[in-house]
Amino acid sequence: MTQVRDVPLSENGATKPRHAARLKKLVEEAAHCERCPLFREATQTVFGEGPIGALIMFVGEQPGDQEDRVGRPFVGPAGRMLDAALAAVGLDRGAAYVTNAVKHFKYEQRGKRRLHKHPNRGEVQACRWWLDQEFALVRPKLVVALGTVAAHAILNRPVVLARVRGRPLTLPDGRGVLATIHPSAILRMPDETMRRQAFGDFVDDLKRAVKVVKSLR
Ligand code: URA
Repeated sequence: MTQVRDVPLSENGATKPRHAARLKKLVEEAAHCERCPLFREATQTVFGEGPIGALIMFVGEQPGDQEDRVGRPFVGPAGRMLDAALAAVGLDRGAAYVTNAVKHFKYEQRGKRRLHKHPNRGEVQACRWWLDQEFALVRPKLVVALGTVAAHAILNRPVVLARVRGRPLTLPDGRGVLATIHPSAILRMPDETMRRQAFGDFVDDLKRAVKVVKSLR
């Protein structure tokens, strides 16, 4: 098993004060984002978090119910699944930057429940501005796209996840991209055997991601 506890995943931690200050300002600006209508129903903007200079950036789809309430990415059930997979590869979440393609929760109210709805292309496109700012400030070597929406947003083209999954790709600016499933897809598997298999495959993709980062350093 690839162990990466010995590999610092942040080149420079938060040692670039100007970039760190810019990121802080960006978070404040994003709190008032009205680039698409999703801000109207969401509790708050959920911006990315993690150190400037993180070598790996994880990009999910959009905050879920719990993230919307708490204001931080991947703190609900999908986040716990992500954390379990990161732990399985020995990857420290605190050294990675974690964000979403869309920064507001999109949902449909059903009684007391708020059911997740996929963002549409226009919403992803409107939010791309923030993601680009995050790329420019954090400057990750590798972006891991969690799910189809994130892969589409990052690669800037429609993707069939099964075709690109686990294959290291390079963006025109030289940044690496690796797409994998969204951790919530594991939670939706119909039985424990399938969940275990899907989790193992997800962990294998993350191991590949770590290998790519090592090769890019
Ligand atoms: N799903 C996502 O894509 N992002 C989150 O932050 C939480 C759930």
